[in-house]
Amino acid sequence: MAARLIALFLALMSLGQGTLNRYETEMSLGGNLFLVNRDFVLASNYKPEDLVVPDVRLTYPDTTMRKEAAEALENMFVAAKEEAGYTLIGVSGFRSYGQQASIYERKIQNAGKKQAMLLVAPPGASEHQLGLAMDLGTPQNQKLNEAFGDTQAGAWVRENCHRFGFIIRYKEEWTEITGYADEPWHVRYVGAEHAKRIYEMDIPLEYYVEMLRQAQYEQLTNEER
Ligand code: DAL
Ligand code: ZN
Repeated sequence: MAARLIALFLALMSLGQGTLNRYETEMSLGGNLFLVNRDFVLASNYKPEDLVVPDVRLTYPDTTMRKEAAEALENMFVAAKEEAGYTLIGVSGFRSYGQQASIYERKIQNAGKKQAMLLVAPPGASEHQLGLAMDLGTPQNQKLNEAFGDTQAGAWVRENCHRFGFIIRYKEEWTEITGYADEPWHVRYVGAEHAKRIYEMDIPLEYYVEMLRQAQYEQLTNEER
């Protein structure tokens, strides 16, 4: 991981100030790179303004995502079908703070607090509230469990979602960093440029965003010298 991070840092340092400024905007609330986790939480009233129902097969017809992410999801579902013959299903997209609170409480009741914390974000700490995450299923399994990762469709998503701007956000080997267990069904939209880099580096979003911030800081302080 350390060698990959150094490579990423050097690559980012070679970018122009204009590009890093654009990335800064993307990392702000409303941008595709905004980081949400237990340390960086959203206000209870945060709700994106451009939520739409993606034109894909859905478990619940009122499932929404932000517009740009929804269009990317549509392209990904078409490619999964046309390139590989897999049918994907959108199971859970945007969730309000209140909806996330209900899911979190229910999981604590059913699985206990320790297990719940590994599987469900507390209210305010979920990317689903950003409208940039979608949980995926197949016609055979819409239960959002690890079995999705063992399916051929799940493997296709793992290797191809970056082409459409999505990353696999939670992997088993990143649990210490992300705070969550393996979630092969949860994809997060960050845009194709960043998704490709994150896929190639195979690093969690926390590290990627930290590297961007570092690169920007270095450039700013170099300019001042
Ligand atoms: N399952 C992910 C961590 C969420 O609840 O947002
Ligand atoms: Zn999810």
